[in-house]
Amino acid sequence: MKYERMPIEIESPEEFGYDKIQYNLSESSVRDRTLSEVGIQLQDLVLLYGEHKGHRGLVEVIAKASGMAPSEVLVTFGAAEALFIIATTLLEKGDELVVVRPNYATNIFTPRAIQADIRYLDLTFEEQWLVDVDKLAALLTPRTKYVSITVPHNPTGQMLSEANLRRIVALVEKAGCRLLVDETYREMTFGGPLPCAASLSDRAISVSSLSKTYGIPGIRAGWLLCQDKALLETFLGAKEQIGICGSVVDEEIAFQALRQQDTWLPEITGRIQAAFRITRDWMAGEELMEWVEPKGGVVCFPRIKLDVPVDVDKFYRVLTEDFGTYLGPGHWFEQSRRHFRLGFGWPTLPELKGGLQGISAALRAAMT
Ligand SMILES: Cc1ncc(COP(=O)(O)O)c(C=O)c1O
Repeated sequence: MKYERMPIEIESPEEFGYDKIQYNLSESSVRDRTLSEVGIQLQDLVLLYGEHKGHRGLVEVIAKASGMAPSEVLVTFGAAEALFIIATTLLEKGDELVVVRPNYATNIFTPRAIQADIRYLDLTFEEQWLVDVDKLAALLTPRTKYVSITVPHNPTGQMLSEANLRRIVALVEKAGCRLLVDETYREMTFGGPLPCAASLSDRAISVSSLSKTYGIPGIRAGWLLCQDKALLETFLGAKEQIGICGSVVDEEIAFQALRQQDTWLPEITGRIQAAFRITRDWMAGEELMEWVEPKGGVVCFPRIKLDVPVDVDKFYRVLTEDFGTYLGPGHWFEQSRRHFRLGFGWPTLPELKGGLQGISAALRAAMT
């Protein structure tokens, strides 16, 4: 393995320093909750090794919410660990895979660390950041181990139709490879979620977590779903070698949080929609910017119009130093820095408005 730190993590707000940021528009989640907001007592929790596949109650709630059987669920240390387990299980040095780009960085960096041979499906602004299934099909070869997509997409917030998801499932079945769908934003799809990919085929693996929708990334609880029993057993072997089992504290909190989803989700969805409307109104009035309107999640990936003469480095510098606003610049996603990921779900609505005003002001200050 050749590990390398990812720019998105090196420059993440927690590494940069939350105290240096007034308007944090760089997050890809809703606002973080306190333990008391989750509303549980942990004093009597026994600190033993947990069941290796995960807290039994948590496994059941995940299975029910995903249309899967409990035996098809593996709880992991965040979606990040699930992605790591999948890549390191399915790939060896020199193996081929197809990965959508831009993407959440781990989906690219772990195959790279394994020194796998990545064939990129490059999404573009001009094509509305949509996955073209025919282009994807053309990238498959007999050596492809898996296809890796993220829906709703990070960093653009774009979706895939159910018909196209089913076409991709059929493609991997025919090719005899596998499909990894990073579904970390699934519950935040504006028009209602797609079925979990893993529920459609034993060749598909779904990944998700509690970090984004529920605003509790600090407990590190996620999961993978897979119908293929032998493969799931190998994934469990990987998890056991990494850390035996998950943290019983994290998994108890995750369980208590997830079983409140029916009361939490309407409130979360309402807040996301209010934040989205503010962002959309700002975009409509901001003549220097353009975007493809997101269809799910809490992030979008607008760009500074190509004919706007701007010193991009100065823009980011002024934005942070003079306007206290923090974004995810394009290079976090191996894209031009004229793009940035704007997270509208995490800041309070007044903070969001302050940050958007900061972007407009910094753009004008950085024009050449
Ligand atoms: C698409 C996607 N997948 C996975 C993750 C990892 O999330 P976590 O490990 O906190 O569950 C993230 C975090 O930003 C993400 O955006």
